[in-house]
Amino acid sequence: MTSGAWDRVDQYLEQSLLTAPDREQRTAVEQANSAAGLPAIDVSPAQGKFLNLIARSIRARRVLEIGTLGGYSTGWLARAVGEEGQVVTLEFEPRHAEVARANLDRAGLGKRVEIRVGAALDSLPVLEQENPEPFDLVFVDADKVNNAEYVRWALRLTRPGSIIIVDNVVRQGGIADPNSADAAVRASREVIELVGAEPRLDSIVMQTVGSKGWDGFIYAIVTE
Ligand code: SAH
Ligand code: DHB
Ligand code: MG
Repeated sequence: MTSGAWDRVDQYLEQSLLTAPDREQRTAVEQANSAAGLPAIDVSPAQGKFLNLIARSIRARRVLEIGTLGGYSTGWLARAVGEEGQVVTLEFEPRHAEVARANLDRAGLGKRVEIRVGAALDSLPVLEQENPEPFDLVFVDADKVNNAEYVRWALRLTRPGSIIIVDNVVRQGGIADPNSADAAVRASREVIELVGAEPRLDSIVMQTVGSKGWDGFIYAIVTE
């Protein structure tokens, strides 16, 4: 099967399993992001819906996201936490945060989302200082080289039963090569080995294909 076929399957699934408002939302975000020159690296609609279903499965009320871009994944998570829920999302680029703010406000989700601008490794200690209620779900999707650090921070900000998801760790199969020179592949192997060795996490990597090619994500439960 080719990546063209993966793309056609994703299109079929979007038509069959997403609602018209879900599809309109995608188009609106795509147009706003592209007009503002943001890279088209948001989660796919199917991946976004899957994040939404996971968050609803655990009745998540508090979600932490690292890497906002135009807020497309953020929107799926914000719909999952409900009116009383909150998503805190960390974004380095002020321009991305601005576009995300507009996208989320337009979708009527603005009140549920707090966007913190800055390098996540600067924002995370500030967040911890505020002694927040533990997050039920953490979605890590920013600069891949810091993934291991982000998982260490996620452990400090969650509770037993929380879920930690790390996007883009399979890298078109690159992670099978222990000698890869690719910094993102090396970082994927680092974070996978970290979660594998961490007694407070029980985890797996699910490989994925679709409109974003061949990739996969870490799915981890905080156990103790
Ligand atoms: N989660 C988004 C996509 C995020 S793309 C979605 O699926 O819709 C990755 C984002 O991480 C980019 O917007 C990038 O600017 C941001 N980023 C990169 N380095 C970062 C850092 N050190 N701290 C916070 N965000 C960072
Ligand atoms: C890239 C980043 C992502 O978060 C993603 O889902 C796909 C690609 C990238 O940096 O190329
Ligand atoms: Mg991603």
